Amino acid sequence: MCGIIGYCGINNAEDIIISGLHALEYRGYDSAGMTVFTQNGLKTIKTKGRVADLENKAKIMFLEPSGCGIGHTRWATHGKPSETNAHPHGTESVMIVHNGIIENYNEIKKFLSERGYGFLSETDTEVAAKLLDYEYKNEKDKIKAIINTVNQLKGSYAFGIVFKDEPGTVYGVKKDSPLLAGLSGQGNFIASDISAFLKYTGDYIRPEDGEIIRLTSDSVSVYGPEGSPVEKKAEKALWNSAAAEKSGFRHFMLKEIFEEPKVLNDTFDSITKDSYPDFSETIPDDSFFEGIGTIHIIACGTAMHAGLIGKHYIEKLARIPVNVEIASEFRYKDPILSKNDMVIVISQSGETADSLAALRLVNKMNIKTLSVVNTYGSTIARESSHVIYTKAGPEIAVASTKAFSVQAVVMLILALKLSEIQGRLTKEEILKISSSFKNMTKTSLHNVLCNTQNIERAAATTAKHQDVFFIGRGYDNYLGMEASLKLKEISYIHSEAYAAGELKHGTISLIEENTPVIAIATNKDFYEKMRSNIEEVRSRGAYVISICTENADIIKNVSDAVMTIPDDDEFSKPFTAAAVIQLFAYYGALALGRDIDKPRNLAKSVTVE
Ligand code: M6R
Repeated sequence: MCGIIGYCGINNAEDIIISGLHALEYRGYDSAGMTVFTQNGLKTIKTKGRVADLENKAKIMFLEPSGCGIGHTRWATHGKPSETNAHPHGTESVMIVHNGIIENYNEIKKFLSERGYGFLSETDTEVAAKLLDYEYKNEKDKIKAIINTVNQLKGSYAFGIVFKDEPGTVYGVKKDSPLLAGLSGQGNFIASDISAFLKYTGDYIRPEDGEIIRLTSDSVSVYGPEGSPVEKKAEKALWNSAAAEKSGFRHFMLKEIFEEPKVLNDTFDSITKDSYPDFSETIPDDSFFEGIGTIHIIACGTAMHAGLIGKHYIEKLARIPVNVEIASEFRYKDPILSKNDMVIVISQSGETADSLAALRLVNKMNIKTLSVVNTYGSTIARESSHVIYTKAGPEIAVASTKAFSVQAVVMLILALKLSEIQGRLTKEEILKISSSFKNMTKTSLHNVLCNTQNIERAAATTAKHQDVFFIGRGYDNYLGMEASLKLKEISYIHSEAYAAGELKHGTISLIEENTPVIAIATNKDFYEKMRSNIEEVRSRGAYVISICTENADIIKNVSDAVMTIPDDDEFSKPFTAAAVIQLFAYYGALALGRDIDKPRNLAKSVTVE
């Protein structure tokens, strides 16, 4: 979603803002803009399209270097993507950039219109900017004007602000949208996430909702929601800027898939001791895992699919019932929870608006919560009773791959922990499963990643079609859902995922001559059932590409093409199969020449509901 960067320092602000906006591109956007201080006041440029276009425009229009300014990538919510709707917005005296949604902007617009303000864009942001202008004219004090403004806003926001009469200063304030302040000897920053300034510094401050940041080139001050100064402790980034580079790969997505063996191991090692589940780093007391009635896993998109894999593991190994809920549905359905239930929120970014709102709802009900989050110190991580951090490192491609896999391994080790607590598995049985997982990351996963010819061929064949179906049973059905999402989001091919036994209850009417059906059949328990389902669609003309183990002749013999995985144990196969479906989507999108890392209409971090 929208990305914000602000800089004040001794370097050229235009260059730093452009480089920050490039780093924020992965969040998803459709227009960009910036405002910098010049000798003649504030100067703003905007463009519909890419940051590279803004960069070219800046070269022509900004003739003098500036030391301070704000920049923005906009993911359209109110008003279509256009130069007029692009940020910054404001007046002669104040300009702002915004991430979030102002829900009561219509009322405020009416209030301001009655007081002589006109509006050029369709955005809620312009309304907030003009309210700030109005408040500043009345108050003549910037902090007070910011406080008065945000106190009237309903919704979510992170703002970067510059006032014409205070050159060399940037203000920031947030509520329910991410914003950080970066600290360096060469100047200071505000940004939506750390990647925007990681090249320059890994030291940062994390303001709370309502706190106001004031940056100059050599100072960062923070004020509380009432306006009094607040002391903040600086934190250090856990990632360096190299982790957010392509390192010779054609796309971030491919690089991130190839990182899976490492990040799976890193995550596994962080929650095990001698291959045995050990969450004591963040959950010191085992009573947290005891006496659980039902587990509710809440998440969105790919993280929700990792939750489904978790459901399979927990129900199979620990025999605790698990509901997996889409966060945007859960938060509005008046959920029924019992006091001994546990809620697990899974999120790569830790900032997804619906997942966060669902967590806040559960927190009010006094139910124990656990989050599985990749981004250190994110809001979801901070607001859960306990957090388990996945060790994926930064995930830049919009399509989530390695983050999915590490979420799934946390689910596996959690299921093993719960199975121990429930007295379901012996220590030896637990070690057997975790050791074969470890072996899988060392050998099988590398084999899959190094032998992609069949996947590339199958993806290129599929890319010639408009509609694709995925079928599977049990966890293979859940992988099919993830495979379908991955293929849709980056290749724009329409696809649907079905429980293999369910297809004949309606959707099979869509199968025609040569319709691609991807049959995920990695689980021995369902080989015979899957063979029947494959034959059902083949006899209606489908071209079946199966994902199965190398020795699964029963599936291979009824398939038109295969993408194989090694024959690991049932709990490890989802990880190799996940790499296959991710590569399948990647090569399908590549064959179609799509913008793989930044697919249209999508945002990496979905901070609006
Ligand atoms: O940051 P989160 O894990 O909470 O994000 C959830 C979804 O928005 C995310 O998984 C989305 O579905 C991805 N684009 C899928 O590749």
